[in-house]
Amino acid sequence: MKNYIQLKSLNTFRISVFAAQVIKIYDVYALIKHWKNTYYKAQPVLILGRGSNVLFLDNFIGTILINKIKGIFVTEYNKIWRLRVGAGEKWDKLVTYAINHNIPGLENLACIPGSVGAAPIHNIGAYGIELSKICEYVDIIDLYNEKVIRFTHEECLFQYRSSIFKNILKNYAIIFVGLKLSKKWKPILNYGELNCLKKHYITPKQIFKFIRKIRYNKIPNVKKTGNAGSFFKNPIINAKKAYNLLSLYPNMPYYRQIDGAMKLSAGWLIDNCSLKGYILGRAAIYSKQSLILINNKNMANGTEIAALALYIYTSVAKKFNIYLQPEVIFIGKHGKINPKKIFL
Ligand code: FAD
Ligand code: EPU
Repeated sequence: MKNYIQLKSLNTFRISVFAAQVIKIYDVYALIKHWKNTYYKAQPVLILGRGSNVLFLDNFIGTILINKIKGIFVTEYNKIWRLRVGAGEKWDKLVTYAINHNIPGLENLACIPGSVGAAPIHNIGAYGIELSKICEYVDIIDLYNEKVIRFTHEECLFQYRSSIFKNILKNYAIIFVGLKLSKKWKPILNYGELNCLKKHYITPKQIFKFIRKIRYNKIPNVKKTGNAGSFFKNPIINAKKAYNLLSLYPNMPYYRQIDGAMKLSAGWLIDNCSLKGYILGRAAIYSKQSLILINNKNMANGTEIAALALYIYTSVAKKFNIYLQPEVIFIGKHGKINPKKIFL
């Protein structure tokens, strides 16, 4: 791996792999220039934010462009604030900035360790709110045609952990994200662990602090223990199948969706295969949250984490006839790998 660049500090799973080249990108012109350079040499190219939703399975033989396009621009109107934010800003820095400037509405999404640019891709969500609720537009650059294109909220096709950016678009980079926050703030406290907070007296800052505390208690700190948050998505199944399962497991948590389908808790399904804390080689299931896979002592490679994920996938499928879908994106030598190649 002579002259290759170590990626361990550039992915939160702390996988030790190398890339032929890593370039930090501070503006759109540099993004186009470096992307074209690699594209026309027929070399693989990957755009990365904070590396908190990827699993490297191998060395990457191409160029990684790290998005560092910065800027938080706030415009105040009578009833709303509009925020236009550079894709390379840290998401949690944005949340803290908003709270410190008395702009509420982002507090439930505190502590998510990614970049602003990646937030629309899987429509980040936590504690009762998803990005889709506040996202007004997403500006991308079509790298092939060098054109900036704006996707309105509707055009983003946001769904649970999904959007048009996830699998449909190709050769693009998100450069700015537009958020719209109402001045008529109402606390969102319907998520289980927030029920104990009192609606009438609570401030955005108190919610922000409370969520930070909950998260510190049950999500491993990426600075110490490699992980990428939830490894799998919570499965959404049809109501009939959910009721069949509920007749067998009456304590199983479920969340009814607007269209009648049911979202189940992947963490609960994994727990109920008696896998909490399970260790496979140098990979493990986190003892306080079964949906999080950890890189034990930060010594595992991506294949070991994937082997554990496959074991979980198979165990849950056997016991519940539910096929978990990974939330984490697998990256191989040449770029993204379809998870079906690993799980089927
Ligand atoms: P990366 O991992 O760098 O990239 C992810 C994908 O997006 C890659 O395919 C990459 O090529 C692509 N990409 C990144 N930036 C761009 C861009 N500008 N243009 C085009 N493509 C791009 N997620 C939640 O939804 N809710 C949570 O509560 C949550 N908690 C987490 C807790 C921990 C401890 C960790 C480690 C992760 C958590 N996540 C959570 C997952 C993760 O933080 C989010 O998915 C985040 O949005 C990923 O951002 P990133 O910048 O790290 O993306
Ligand atoms: N549960 C278990 N055992 C576990 C984990 C969860 O039984 O080990 C059950 C419990 O009943 C618990 C319920 O699942 O009450 C929900 O658990 P939790 O609040 O921890 O949330 P989650 O569904 O496991 C989702 C997101 C997280 C997000 C939290 C909070 C997904 C895939 N994950 O996790 O997002 O932070 O809700 O809103 O939707 C991420 O995407 O990386 C991520 C961390």
